[in-house]
Amino acid sequence: MPRARLVLDAAFALAPVPRRLFGSFVEHMGRCVYTGIHEPGHPTADDAGFRGDVLELTRRLAPTVVRYPGGNFVSGYRWEDGIGPVADRPSRLDLAWRSREPNEVGLHEFDSWAREVDTEVMMAVNLGTRGLQEACDLLEYANHPGGTYWSDRRIANGSTDPFGYRLWCLGNEMDGPWQIGHKTAYEYGRLAAETGRAMRLVDPDIELVACGSSHAQMPTFGAWESEVLTQCYDTVDYVSLHVYYSEHDGDTDSYLASAVDMDGFIEAVIATADAVRARGRHTKTIDLSFDEWNVTRPSERGGDDLARQAPWALHPRLGESEYGIVDAVVVGTMLNSLLRHGDRVTVGCQAQLVNVLGLIRSEELGDAWLQTIAYPFEQMRRLARGSILQVVASSDHQDTARFGDVPVVDATATYDAETGTAAVFVANRSRTEAARLEVDCRGLPVGRLTAATVLAVPDGTPVDLTNRDRHDAIVPKPFHGAQLDQQILRADLPPLSWTVFELARPAA
Ligand code: AHR
Repeated sequence: MPRARLVLDAAFALAPVPRRLFGSFVEHMGRCVYTGIHEPGHPTADDAGFRGDVLELTRRLAPTVVRYPGGNFVSGYRWEDGIGPVADRPSRLDLAWRSREPNEVGLHEFDSWAREVDTEVMMAVNLGTRGLQEACDLLEYANHPGGTYWSDRRIANGSTDPFGYRLWCLGNEMDGPWQIGHKTAYEYGRLAAETGRAMRLVDPDIELVACGSSHAQMPTFGAWESEVLTQCYDTVDYVSLHVYYSEHDGDTDSYLASAVDMDGFIEAVIATADAVRARGRHTKTIDLSFDEWNVTRPSERGGDDLARQAPWALHPRLGESEYGIVDAVVVGTMLNSLLRHGDRVTVGCQAQLVNVLGLIRSEELGDAWLQTIAYPFEQMRRLARGSILQVVASSDHQDTARFGDVPVVDATATYDAETGTAAVFVANRSRTEAARLEVDCRGLPVGRLTAATVLAVPDGTPVDLTNRDRHDAIVPKPFHGAQLDQQILRADLPPLSWTVFELARPAA
């Protein structure tokens, strides 16, 4: 039986848990917007056409920030198409996804949906087919109080108060040859610098995200970040990272170790950003915005094939991955990777919210449910409070073809001094063996194990079971196999599982 030992101590706090780490992403792609969040003909739809069942599940997940409107979509998007009376809005070719965009949902609709679910909007501007002027116009429309052309148009369209968006992405994946308006690092870095500088003149309080690499396997990875940040370091606050992991050739063990690769990706981007900082004698530090991350079934990546074969459909099915327990465990470890780097990764968006690689699945005129991968997100978003702890961990290892020897058990923890509560998030990557865990909590003023849940499937369950047919087939269940004794927590973690422990001060 593999073993792991963790030591937790309140004195070793890394950083406050960043509020924006638990975000999501809504793109005009496939069925994320249309028949995802918005379906006027659905029995649960509200007066604005938003699906009530999806609203309810979104409120349950409670993403702290939602990136919008793309993604690759934004690089061909004219934001003005989505304002004014819906009947007057144009239908356009969406070149990114070879679909038809009806523009029934635009800025105002998305803003009211975001208010309904009480989340912050992270807005992206088009730096593919458009540039500085259109970005400033959009910012003026969204954030300027009134008395100017664009802000008065917003008021005329029904929003007297500015939207007040703080967080802005300067384009999307501009390093990718697939991107509409793809640029070299120098071209993009200059454009980001000038666009960002002008946007700050419109609204000095915004925070800006420069595009990093689309993933760490891009041939330009590293050189891209270095050149882009050299051009725009003083203007931007964040550099972005994106990654989607999937299982290749049935190699589940490597897939389960994806977060080891993610740790390396994050650390490489931190090193690159800090090298630019040193070289340029800058004083501020650039944070990381991991604004697209998730797992995907290999056949579903992007859904580009379908869009190529049957182009210009309205909301085609793109990227509709269905997830099982393995995917949920990988997502848990990816959340751990984000949390353990939470001193520098301060924005995170699990992509996408509905249907496209979705945490939520919805069927047209049918029901909506949470996929397995939504549960680790919901738990960590709700329970990671106060400070991130630097966990001293030792674990037995298992060998993988792609990532070498990796720890069988992966864990993070947080401690909230105000409430005296702690949370421990633990994955067991072994597909076959339970793992014996010991958590030394003597450095924390806790004396009670108040809750423990486990996400796993019983022995003999097919490993590809999903929540499609029985929406509660794989959900966190109470975990009875743990004891806290003399501030040492002991548990045998089931194979292929994600377990969450909640601890509190001793009873008075
Ligand atoms: O999330 C799906 C797509 O993946 C996004 O549009 C793009 O930015 C990424 O490549």
